[in-house]
Amino acid sequence: MSIFRSGLFKDKVAIVTGGGTGIGKAISEELLVLGARVVIASRNQDKVADAAKELCKLGDVTSFRCNIRKEEDVKTLVKNTLDKYGRIDYLVNNGGGQFPCPAADMSLKGWNAVIETNLTGTYLMSREVYNQYFKDHGGVVVNIIADMFRGFPMMSHTGAARAGVENITKSFAIEWAEQGVRVNCIAPGSTIYSPTAAANYSTEFAPFEHSRPGVPSKRLGTTQEVSSAVCFLLSPGSQFISGATLRVDGGGSLYSPLMWKIDEHKNIPSYSWDPYKSKL
Ligand code: ADE
Repeated sequence: MSIFRSGLFKDKVAIVTGGGTGIGKAISEELLVLGARVVIASRNQDKVADAAKELCKLGDVTSFRCNIRKEEDVKTLVKNTLDKYGRIDYLVNNGGGQFPCPAADMSLKGWNAVIETNLTGTYLMSREVYNQYFKDHGGVVVNIIADMFRGFPMMSHTGAARAGVENITKSFAIEWAEQGVRVNCIAPGSTIYSPTAAANYSTEFAPFEHSRPGVPSKRLGTTQEVSSAVCFLLSPGSQFISGATLRVDGGGSLYSPLMWKIDEHKNIPSYSWDPYKSKL
């Protein structure tokens, strides 16, 4: 079960980029369960349409193809959402991507692609939703970033992009406050397990098992543990929070096993639920 009350997001409209897979899918599912109408957007038309077929068991969901790197695609996505639903209440900038590579070996093309998707894509989506709707009606933006607080070796491109997103979050939170817009970040640890994320990384660069000993909770996180934090930041319960980053990482970004030893334990059990069962 979602920890939030049923109907919390009734009549609200949310855009979730990358909303058909991994953490984005969990966010879409919880928003739908709580009564929101959800637009999921992704670069791949077939994949996002397939995801919508599953998600529509939970509520009103629409899929649109959109490459968030392309200004015209982004403008069209926001316009199509307004044409269909007449409003936008929430934007969750979750769509992104990266590939493991040492900085010294990275091509400029690869570097630029990751910066454009994660940083420029978030900028374009936020700007367009603001200009086409939030400017006159207010709204809430949540940006999904990553645990890059101590640098991000093998992922310097995404580390730079996500740090940039954390910074534009603060700028937009101030620039748009008067228009009733709040902007915050969620920073999931690399120990959030999802089949999509697992498929993206080779066993040679396995962020999951590799990073688990460095997490005070001594376990992987669930996509629902990220989603519940997103729902909180979208909800009126966080009305006085803007420009902030909430880390959802089991304390991993703070911890070094060299400073303090934490034995294996199961004292912070995971929170997960099946939205398709709880809906019945
Ligand atoms: N997910 C990953 N890359 C994307 C992109 N360029 N556009 C939309 N969703 C994405």
